[in-house]
Amino acid sequence: MAPPTVLIEQRALAARIREMATELRTALPNDDIHFVCVLKGAFMFLSDLVRALDERVSMDFIAVSSYGASTKSTGEVRLVKDVDTGLQGRHVVIVEDIVDTGLTLHYLQDILRRRGPASLHTACLLSKPSRRQVDVKVDFIGFTIDDHFVVGYGLDYAERYRNLPYIGIMVS
Ligand code: IMP
Ligand code: MG
Repeated sequence: MAPPTVLIEQRALAARIREMATELRTALPNDDIHFVCVLKGAFMFLSDLVRALDERVSMDFIAVSSYGASTKSTGEVRLVKDVDTGLQGRHVVIVEDIVDTGLTLHYLQDILRRRGPASLHTACLLSKPSRRQVDVKVDFIGFTIDDHFVVGYGLDYAERYRNLPYIGIMVS
């Protein structure tokens, strides 16, 4: 199989993520930000985002059921790994790789909101609005893209390509 073709190059990702860090700090100027990173796809985005911020951050990780080896969602969301610490009174930012149908973020926002955070925001690197099935609020979006199945920079196809430093489109 040919390597994925470049959709968003490494330098564009880096520049936009630095801007997103500034947007987050502007929205939450005086608070400790507690990031909840959605595994596995958002790990690289989180890692660059937090390095563009100051020391008033902490982070935790959560995992939900994913597509498996398919490129289509089953529509079913299941919690696979919960966060390690409580969210009560904290300024929580969910960090996700991509919002597609919106089902995953809708589910996560619902369960995390019930834990009583002082505020709950969502930062998502990519958005595919044409595929949305539920209306979900995403406060910070890196890039809006057309309906392509994308890989790289944390995102996978059957667990491959997560290590690509750019966002690419699969070519068959
Ligand atoms: P949603 O629940 O349909 O919004 O899907 C969100 C999840 O599906 C993301 O966290 C990704 O793991 C996965 N996903 C959606 N679109 C893509 C894609 O184009 N490439 C890789 N994973 C994707
Ligand atoms: Mg994901």
